[in-house]
Amino acid sequence: MLPTINFTETNAYKYLADHFISINEKSLKDLFNEDPARFEKFSLIFEDILLDFSKNRMDDTTLALLLQLAKECKLDQAIKAMFSGERINQTEGRPVLHIALRNQSNKEILVDGKNVMEDVNKVLAKMEKFSKAIISGEWKGYSGKNITDVVNIGIGGSDLGPVMVTEALKAYKNHLNMHFVSNIDGTHIVETLKQVNPETTLFLIASKTFTTQETMTNANSARAWFLQSGAAEKDIEKHFAALSTNEKDVKAFGIDTENMFEFWDWVGGRYSLWSAIGLPIALSIGFDHFKELLAGAHATDQHFENTPFDKNIPVILALVGVWYINFFEAETQAILPYDQYLHRFAAYFQQGDMESNGKHVDRNGKEVTYETGPIIWGEPGTNGQHAFYQLIHQGTRLIPCDFIAPAQSLNPLGQHHPILLSNFFAQTEALMNGKTEEQVIEELKKEGKSEEEIRKIAPFKVFEGNRPTNSILLKRVTPHSLGSLIAMYEHKIFVQGIIWNIFSFDQWGVELGKQLAKSILPQLKDDQPVSSHDASTNGLINQYKTWR
Ligand code: F6P
Repeated sequence: MLPTINFTETNAYKYLADHFISINEKSLKDLFNEDPARFEKFSLIFEDILLDFSKNRMDDTTLALLLQLAKECKLDQAIKAMFSGERINQTEGRPVLHIALRNQSNKEILVDGKNVMEDVNKVLAKMEKFSKAIISGEWKGYSGKNITDVVNIGIGGSDLGPVMVTEALKAYKNHLNMHFVSNIDGTHIVETLKQVNPETTLFLIASKTFTTQETMTNANSARAWFLQSGAAEKDIEKHFAALSTNEKDVKAFGIDTENMFEFWDWVGGRYSLWSAIGLPIALSIGFDHFKELLAGAHATDQHFENTPFDKNIPVILALVGVWYINFFEAETQAILPYDQYLHRFAAYFQQGDMESNGKHVDRNGKEVTYETGPIIWGEPGTNGQHAFYQLIHQGTRLIPCDFIAPAQSLNPLGQHHPILLSNFFAQTEALMNGKTEEQVIEELKKEGKSEEEIRKIAPFKVFEGNRPTNSILLKRVTPHSLGSLIAMYEHKIFVQGIIWNIFSFDQWGVELGKQLAKSILPQLKDDQPVSSHDASTNGLINQYKTWR
């Protein structure tokens, strides 16, 4: 069982609330001036990843109090509970064991007395054999041709992880063309099917439950398209595989369990890329690279499990986040990768974080009296700079940002990478230091502007600065370093959930809309006006019926 401590009632929280008043008056510039060792103190290196958290509005006392907060919230007990397979997803009665999926040490992890590593290793071996057969061409389509295209049909956690990772590791990919269909909008599957040939395409139906409406509708359309192309029912076994926990419905769909890659209810959808859901990753970059991804995540798991909190990257990331969300009242958190390959990283953690910690009831079943999960958003640099950074620099809101960049480019081309990185360094510096009125006046004078012009324009050019950032510098994007980085963010989410005393591994909030959609669907069949909803919903449905 997880502890059920209200963090706002801890001593650390009370001290932090007082301490916030003095820190809030200080600028980041002051903090750097006061402490020349600030970078050394507030940065951590783990393998090939450097976290610099020195450009945050905190000092030694803040960190000490945040660490005390983690202690008072019994974070150590919670970490042990997760790693030992306790049923910490209490509202669904399940353990939370994505760490088992990448447990390269193979140390036993027991659930109900059974070592889950046996099943994990069995499925990994099956994934290895299958991916090697597809990639090598040993596996043939029904007409004897090699597979050239893989279409993954899934949504949410059964899509975002594989999409993000296959994009992030594109530099490591083989000849297989990867496609991902998630949206129920028929356009997604129709446009994808235009690009592939039934004789050479493998469909992966990825769904933990195998009941998700979007996925099953897309899967049935893909199946119908395949059969209409001239293939026979018996050919399905060469072209359809399932990634799921639901053997019964996989069989009912017509997929042989030989082609089913299993996972288990203790794998949360948004934490599932390490499981059979990662099969498209293994197909795209090869199984050995997939194993390296798992190894990177495992290395972070060990770091997280065994490192004192003051040197523990996920813990520090989480506590800094709590500092902004609960004391500075920051509502959002931007994730800004300076790497084109990581262009879906923020979208991935939008689900990872917001579906996990978007909760308003605590572990005692009581309404919380404080803010929980932040709004996660972001785009790759430098595109974001030309889109929304204006608001981060000069808007009225405090937006803590994580800047992520690799030191080495996978595509060294002329000056591209130094230019990219110069922007990465410059942005966090600019956000911290801003530009004072004196500096603006000096600049305008140099440009030959008159006193009058300077007086008018200067206020608009002032940047107050003092905007906090984390910088995460990787040596290079590799399957290993990416695995480590993803696991860092996963554990950050876990730590924040523990501090906020919420359950991070259920997602009841997405159910209501699904239920209502199911009840509305039959009402759309005929042209009879509806009157059973509120006036707005009735009006919208009835207008749709007139226009369709
Ligand atoms: O959006 C809700 C959700 O349950 C996610 O948590 C999950 O990743 C997604 O739907 C897909 O579910 P499934 O893998 O069962 O199709």
